[in-house]
Amino acid sequence: MSIENTSSAAPKASSRTATLTVDGKTVTFPVYDAVEGASVMDISKLYAETGHFTYDPGFMSTASCESKITYIDGDAGILRYRGYDIDKLADNCDFREVAHLLLYGDLPSPVQKKAFDRRITMHTMIHEQMHFLYRGFPRASHPMAVMAGAAASLAAFYHDSLDVNDPNQREIAAFRLVAKMPTLAAMAYKYSVGQPFIYPQNEMGFAENFLHMMFSTPCEKYTVNPVLARAMEKILILHADHEQNASTSTVRLAGSSGANPFACMSAGIASLWGPAHGGANEAVINMLREIGDVSKIPEFIAKVKDKTSGVKLMGFGHRVYKNYDPRATVLRQTCQEVLAELGQINEPLLKIAVELEKIALSDEYFVSRKLYPNVDFYSGIIYRAMGIPSKMFTVLFAVARTVGWVAQWKEMMEDPKSKIGRPRQLFTGDAPRAFVPLSKR
Ligand code: ACO
Repeated sequence: MSIENTSSAAPKASSRTATLTVDGKTVTFPVYDAVEGASVMDISKLYAETGHFTYDPGFMSTASCESKITYIDGDAGILRYRGYDIDKLADNCDFREVAHLLLYGDLPSPVQKKAFDRRITMHTMIHEQMHFLYRGFPRASHPMAVMAGAAASLAAFYHDSLDVNDPNQREIAAFRLVAKMPTLAAMAYKYSVGQPFIYPQNEMGFAENFLHMMFSTPCEKYTVNPVLARAMEKILILHADHEQNASTSTVRLAGSSGANPFACMSAGIASLWGPAHGGANEAVINMLREIGDVSKIPEFIAKVKDKTSGVKLMGFGHRVYKNYDPRATVLRQTCQEVLAELGQINEPLLKIAVELEKIALSDEYFVSRKLYPNVDFYSGIIYRAMGIPSKMFTVLFAVARTVGWVAQWKEMMEDPKSKIGRPRQLFTGDAPRAFVPLSKR
């Protein structure tokens, strides 16, 4: 296949085209330029013109959609929502401002923010009937199992926002999902420890309300520590979207059939649950516990570098970032602030983490492979210091990512080019063979 410069009248096509010769036939495809990042070759007519499919397991070279929401440059360590650098958003915005940005494309004005905050907080409560749903789960259930069930169950309660072709219903569903996910998450935790569910407090900030629903009890007044609330807002902002990752692609694929948004979020939660996606921060905590002491770090690093050991430095490396994960830069600082506030600055796990990071960033093994700390390296330590159990770590990821999933789902539904997702395959099974009746087998 070759790409060359030609002029094209197609509105989105660049001046270049891609030419492919297969079985003696040459076909030309338009090339579309991205605002930033890799351009794409539009091969949607490939099968019709050549009778061939492309083969790309894991979508290593496939852009599955056009999107205006999030941009990542993994080599440069850049993550932007709608054009804004992630660190600026994390340092200067609250979560609902960023939710507005992701859903509507712009940061809200003060008037818009007030209206948006109100629209979200109007939907924070859960139908009382949902309490019975929760009570049907064993107390020891993994909270992600509860979340996947609870998110899908919302469809049973909100018939008035299931018409995916109605923009107003799509918008109400978006508000409901963003607003209710923290309530559902805190309920999953409360249920697991046998405490009563705590109702949302709409005058509180997004993270403050979540921490309140997690840690307050009806028997005494509970004030959320503002340093922890701010840290949680940052963590939620940092995890709010990450373009076409596994769970987001799952949400888009589920939604491409016209499935309702609550069902699509449940599909996203299921995908996020996998250890290769949302579960790494829990693994970081386990690893730091296993190391146990700063003096054991050299021994552990030697094990990581020994390929026969199968041991990895958890919280390091990323499929896309071949540089410092910009989210880890923010969290490193936040981690120090939270531990200082809680008087845990000498917390042994943090000491081990800091020392590990120092060694790994200067060790030839990690440097030559461009292995840098990722977002999970510090988030688990922060959660642990806040008293959040490790089973809830991925649930928090789901709470944050819901707005990204919803924004991506809305974008797909509003895109007239969207089609049902239907990948094809390279069939390598049996060739036709004669049927043998049961009595003759
Ligand atoms: N520790 C030690 N070596 C590593 C690590 C690590 N954490 N990550 C990658 N490597 C090595 C690989 O063994 C490989 O070495 P080689 O070239 O000698 O064979 C090389 O670095 C390249 O690694 P790949 O596996 O090809 O990188 P890939 O992009 O496929 O994997 C991944 C990325 C899965 C994140 C990997 O780095 C990893 O397992 N990290 C630890 C788990 C983790 O922190 N996951 C969270 C990711 S962030 C998120 O999901 C929100």
